[in-house]
Amino acid sequence: MRKAKAPEVDMGQVRSIIDECCQDKWPVIPLVERLQNEIGHIPPQSIPIIAKAVGLYPSQVQGIISFYEQLYTEPRGKNVVRVCRGTACHVRGGKTILKLVKQHLELDEGETSDDLEYTLETVACIGVCALAPNLVVGGTVYGNVNPKRVEQVLKKNEG
Ligand code: FES
Repeated sequence: MRKAKAPEVDMGQVRSIIDECCQDKWPVIPLVERLQNEIGHIPPQSIPIIAKAVGLYPSQVQGIISFYEQLYTEPRGKNVVRVCRGTACHVRGGKTILKLVKQHLELDEGETSDDLEYTLETVACIGVCALAPNLVVGGTVYGNVNPKRVEQVLKKNEG
């Protein structure tokens, strides 16, 4: 799997966020969420620091981060593109949509572009099966997509 090169992380900033949250006795989940919001991801090297600050083992902090899909330790693209792989989307051409998105972005599932513009993900179902096949770009759901619409949506997000 291709991974975007992680940008240099300012560990001083990481430590100051952790210190500030610990002074205010933040629980670990809001703490890692804040770190992710401010840094862009949860740097793996911050896990032992978080663990020490909150009195857990690093493996416990890692376990919490791994449990929640919305928490991530790798940098992600500015635009997260999600293609639904659920049954309703699959039977209505979801496989073709995924193939086109992969070709357009030159990414495979789980990959992030080197310029950190795009991350491509697949999801089991986004909950709007009636509009299948669905594509989500940057939080906006595009329903009833076809190959032409995929091109339009992705081009629109480039500009
Ligand atoms: S299967 Fe795609 S939205 Fe439910």
